[in-house]
Amino acid sequence: MYAVEMNDVTIYYGMHPALEGISFSLDKGSFLAIMGPNGAGKTTLLKAILGMAPLVKGHVRVMGIDVYEHPLRARKLIGYVPQKESIDATVPVLVRDVVLMGRFSRIGLFRRPSKIDERKAMDALDMVGLADLWDAPFIHLSGGQQQRVLIARALAQEPELLLLDEPFSQVDYPSQRIIAKVLRDLREEGVTIITVIHNIGIMLEYIDSVLLLNRKVIAYGRPEDVLRGEVLRRAYEKGITFIPLRR
Ligand SMILES: Nc1ncnc2c1ncn2[C@@H]1O[C@H](COP(=O)(O)OP(=O)(O)O)[C@@H](O)[C@H]1O
Ligand SMILES: [Mg+2]
Repeated sequence: MYAVEMNDVTIYYGMHPALEGISFSLDKGSFLAIMGPNGAGKTTLLKAILGMAPLVKGHVRVMGIDVYEHPLRARKLIGYVPQKESIDATVPVLVRDVVLMGRFSRIGLFRRPSKIDERKAMDALDMVGLADLWDAPFIHLSGGQQQRVLIARALAQEPELLLLDEPFSQVDYPSQRIIAKVLRDLREEGVTIITVIHNIGIMLEYIDSVLLLNRKVIAYGRPEDVLRGEVLRRAYEKGITFIPLRR
């Protein structure tokens, strides 16, 4: 059984095709990087794995579960760290409220968190190095710290599959290093990880495969096979903005 399996997935926003004919499968416990230019459909691909993008054709399975047929069952297995711009950081909540939200898919929205829920949430915050900020207002944190809290929220859920949307973007260097370490540790624990990423350098040694996207799958394979000038050019048509790998 694969961690994620897509068969001929096509997503339209109204008349606009965001993804067309996407097929790939991902082994459990592996680490996948999704790359591609702005508007390529990277965020949409993560949303499709959550069963939350408008599917017009195809199938998406997570741990063998069809996510569009059984969205709640599938989502229990998936931790999601959305792109940072999509977070409303003006809502006056405490860090611990944000992290405890990660327990809701397990405890249900209307039950009070138990001691175990609090313990799991604290452990998750500790993993991202922010245990001291349990009672702090979320809006008082730096951008990098906020990103780490959002990762802790996903970890509190104890996901089998972790999805991250540009977790290193607009994040200070110390936070980037901590996030990279957390992802390495999770991979060693056997969590399947999919991250949208622009600068792959920071995680390169740990990434098992790269999916290069531009509305369609341009390439999918080992980093050394995908991160080559002539392959990247096919995705980034208008001239290339980063340096191809040399090995
Ligand atoms: N909710 C939405 N409604 C309409 N169009 C959308 C929506 N979300 C994304 N799109 C469009 O779908 C395409 C892919 O977007 P997205 O998945 O966010 O790309 P990426 O994350 O690679 O930048 C873009 O053209 C974008 O404008
Ligand atoms: Mg995006």
